[in-house]
Amino acid sequence: MKTMIRTTFLAGSAALALFAAGGAAKAQGTLVLYCAVQEEWCRAMATTFEKETGIKVAMTRKSSGEFYAQLKAESQNPRGDIWWGGTGDPHMQAAEEGLTEAYTSPNMSQLYDWAIKAHKDTQGRTVGIYTGALGFGYNAKLLKAKGLPEPKCWADLIDPKFKDEVQVADPNSSGTSYTMLATIVQLFGEEKAFDWLKKLHKNINQYTKSGAAPAKATSLGETTVGITFLHDMLAIARENPDVKVVAPCEGTGYEIGSMSMVKGTRNPDNAKKFYDWALTPKPQSLGAENKQFQTPSNKATPLPQFGLDMSTVKLINYDFGKYGSSAVRNALLARWDKEVKSAPK
Ligand code: F6P
Repeated sequence: MKTMIRTTFLAGSAALALFAAGGAAKAQGTLVLYCAVQEEWCRAMATTFEKETGIKVAMTRKSSGEFYAQLKAESQNPRGDIWWGGTGDPHMQAAEEGLTEAYTSPNMSQLYDWAIKAHKDTQGRTVGIYTGALGFGYNAKLLKAKGLPEPKCWADLIDPKFKDEVQVADPNSSGTSYTMLATIVQLFGEEKAFDWLKKLHKNINQYTKSGAAPAKATSLGETTVGITFLHDMLAIARENPDVKVVAPCEGTGYEIGSMSMVKGTRNPDNAKKFYDWALTPKPQSLGAENKQFQTPSNKATPLPQFGLDMSTVKLINYDFGKYGSSAVRNALLARWDKEVKSAPK
């Protein structure tokens, strides 16, 4: 995986040709886009696609688990066309539950194997658009002021000294936080993982809705430690040198940020156009242009200049088939709700 992520991009002629010519085209209908990355990149995707194709985009931004729940709630009367972005596990669960449509883009051959694997494993119902590793960051100024030790490992975050000093999202809404839950289970085994999560709960000052929110809170000094994807923490650390980024010593999980077409899409032709386009280098580069540093899935997309040096990260062999399955994801979230979220602090 590390090699795949690190592989330098191949110079290539990616197939933007379909939409590139002619600037704004005349009105070509609409597309309802469910977008689960940061607002800036979502907006850039919507406006650029609109400009290149003339297709009007109605975009909503939410977290990964929220869109999974929305697709399920809307399954009898689908409103969305494309669900773009967010961690792969809920996309895989949606695929298993028949909430998304199988589609094979002619641009598949331009992608890294890890992105194609998501497609193969779901019989074409989802595809990888970027990847990134999980970790945490801390505010060094606050840490020093509070006399706290430098956290280097997942184990350090459950030290009672960190009471009310750690922030992470709720794994029901956030794909980031579900990735943490599944990562800890894969690292320590389920029983020890739930012991860790219960101890972590005592140190949590807030469970946010969105996975990247704790990175901003760390920079603002609202929390000493924030658990997020490392690319989200890195983006914040570039703007605030007090923020330090940590790849946990025990090893960590990662995401395959994914895209799926909604089952019963009302605009199948436009959904396919967006799907094909989103796999090409230009929209994938809009991430880095908007300070989002995930590793893109098209081999010809330049790696973000300020992306993570993956050689500093010990990655686990994250089992997406298992942790993206309906049975396992539902069971882990139910257990987390029952034993962790509602536990006294
Ligand atoms: O901010 C971008 C990002 O971290 C993506 O890499 C990821 O897929 C998504 O946010 C997860 O967001 P959430 O945890 O809110 O579902």
